[in-house]
Amino acid sequence: MNNNNPIGLVDSGAGGLTVVKQAINRIPNEQFIFIGDTQRMPYGPKSVEEVISYTFQMANFLIEQKNIKLLVIACNTATARALDKLQQQLPIPVIGVIQAGAVAAQHATKNHLIGIIATEGTVQSNAYPNALKQIDINVETFQQSEPEFVQIVESNQYHSLTAKQIVAAHLANFKVQKIDTLVLGCTHFPLLSSFIKDAVGHHVKLVDSGFETVQIIEQTLIDQNLSSFVKHDRSEDIFYTTADPDRFDVIATDWLAPEMPLDVRHLKIIGSGSMQYLQE
Ligand code: DGL
Repeated sequence: MNNNNPIGLVDSGAGGLTVVKQAINRIPNEQFIFIGDTQRMPYGPKSVEEVISYTFQMANFLIEQKNIKLLVIACNTATARALDKLQQQLPIPVIGVIQAGAVAAQHATKNHLIGIIATEGTVQSNAYPNALKQIDINVETFQQSEPEFVQIVESNQYHSLTAKQIVAAHLANFKVQKIDTLVLGCTHFPLLSSFIKDAVGHHVKLVDSGFETVQIIEQTLIDQNLSSFVKHDRSEDIFYTTADPDRFDVIATDWLAPEMPLDVRHLKIIGSGSMQYLQE
């Protein structure tokens, strides 16, 4: 394995960019290649089998075509559904976002009452309550699925007043439950974090699972001797989307605020579900 090879990151859509942003800040010498499977999102309501199969397709493209040295599943739903399978079957290290989020939430809470907002799939999997219970038996968790928040982000409405109102209405419950920590258990949600803070109260600590995960990525690179020997340039990063690249570019540019235009490309899903980049 060549240390100068890229790190791959995958999500159902633009949400995984919240992880990319943290990774660029913390390990800027690395090269990043991202896939947002926007054509088939949301993953939240999809069956376990579908999420596993889509995640493998993205991973295989990145391994076979891009020679990635490490894969980050920058999606809580795909982590909940597919992480163990990918870790068993892929020849490179695979890192998910849930364990790091759970550990950070346990460190953050004082009263052991932790809220979790995530997709339907992540909530159904019980991945966060299970991970938290393993760390701290006294913890009490309150989960809520928020698929509409994913749509708000993907439709580029996350700065709007309507978004603020929807978030406030959906999260009112958490005030009653007296949580002191809220896990943003979907990588789309950090784009709404200021509205979320307003809704639950500024005393509640928000845990961004992607932010926490980047420390694990950094440590894994060190432990496995995989850190890049060269300083990669941001112009080497590539952003694939399976839907409209122009639309994706708007959100990615807004969120990442890059110094130079992003290299956003369309990745085509072919036939039974392998992926191919066709120069357009
Ligand atoms: N960003 C994703 C997550 O972290 C999934 C959103 C979706 O496609 O439903 O769970």
